Amino acid sequence: MTYADFVNMHAADLKVTPEALFNARPLSFPMSTNRRGEELVEFLSRCVEINLEGKRVLDVGCAYGGLSIALSNAGARVSGIDVSNKFIKYAEANALNSAEADFHVVDASSVGVRKLFEKGSFDLIVINDVLEHIYDTASLVANIDWLLNDTGMVYFKVPNSFSPRFALSEGHRKIFGLTLLDPDCWFHLLPKRASIFYRPLSHFQAIFSHFNMPQMLFVDEERVFVRFTLRKLKNQIKEIFDKARDYNYPDQQVKGYLRDGIIRFRDEYFYDVDNHGEEFVKFKYGSYFFTGFAGRAAAAIRPLHPVREIDGIGRIAERGAPPARAFVAERGVSDEQIENAEWNGEPA
Ligand SMILES: C[S@@+](CC[C@H](N)C(=O)[O-])C[C@H]1O[C@@H](n2cnc3c(N)ncnc32)[C@H](O)[C@@H]1O
Repeated sequence: MTYADFVNMHAADLKVTPEALFNARPLSFPMSTNRRGEELVEFLSRCVEINLEGKRVLDVGCAYGGLSIALSNAGARVSGIDVSNKFIKYAEANALNSAEADFHVVDASSVGVRKLFEKGSFDLIVINDVLEHIYDTASLVANIDWLLNDTGMVYFKVPNSFSPRFALSEGHRKIFGLTLLDPDCWFHLLPKRASIFYRPLSHFQAIFSHFNMPQMLFVDEERVFVRFTLRKLKNQIKEIFDKARDYNYPDQQVKGYLRDGIIRFRDEYFYDVDNHGEEFVKFKYGSYFFTGFAGRAAAAIRPLHPVREIDGIGRIAERGAPPARAFVAERGVSDEQIENAEWNGEPA
């Protein structure tokens, strides 16, 4: 099988023609899996010195397999894992005859992964748009610690729970206020399970460092220091208050929860403005996603572009210039594209 067979399989599942899937713009999340995978591998090699040739790589939450395939085509020996049996079948179909990768159905936060792989067997573990879907992140990162070798590193990307834009419209469900509420409150606004857990940046810093990955390098993929002003962020917070005023709440209880969430968010924003520098605030609130690397003390995480150090956050590298070919909207090339980018972080 190949990508074409993967598309046929997907079309049959959706009861549409493959042409309809090929012609849709933007391409759906499954359809763009290979292209996104290639772009991510290109992005990694633009951020840090990286040689994938012969490296053992684990793709956690691999979904349709595009990233695993791209990593394999760059010379890595790849294993992809996903909790969904359906996605693993897709990934296998997608990779067959086009990449050497093995795929496994397993919950990455369970001890099941330790039965599949040898301790310390991976040089690189990628976890792209997955951390926010996992409740037990501590067990997940404990497993990563178990699987990573002594010089290994992790690449991650996770949406920012402190983005006022996502408070105005949560990325997956497009609902106002969700990111300001605890997940158990989501049931008031969403009829079914969402499996999305927003956490502050400090949560990820704390667990990686606790589980023997003390090195952290973020990449300012979205150019927040250039794009954002405190005035713009303040206006977005005002917009949250305006929207809350006119919102059609299902009941008074939800209104109360959301009011508390908004006030807490506003107070933290102004506390940060008063107590941390402007750069801290721009990064913490302006980023839509946090993208970066965590690594062992001995890992060689060598950024290829200038790095700034911000108290309370750590090292943040500039992103390199994207290739001439448009660096697709969902990863953002121009400010306008970033502003207008459709969220594309959810398998359909
Ligand atoms: C938003 S998708 C990201 C897919 C892929 N990494 C990419 O960038 O295209 C999240 C993936 O994480 C998987 N996932 C969620 N919880 C998981 C868990 N506990 N263990 C393994 N995979 C999980 C989902 O099934 C889904 O395929």
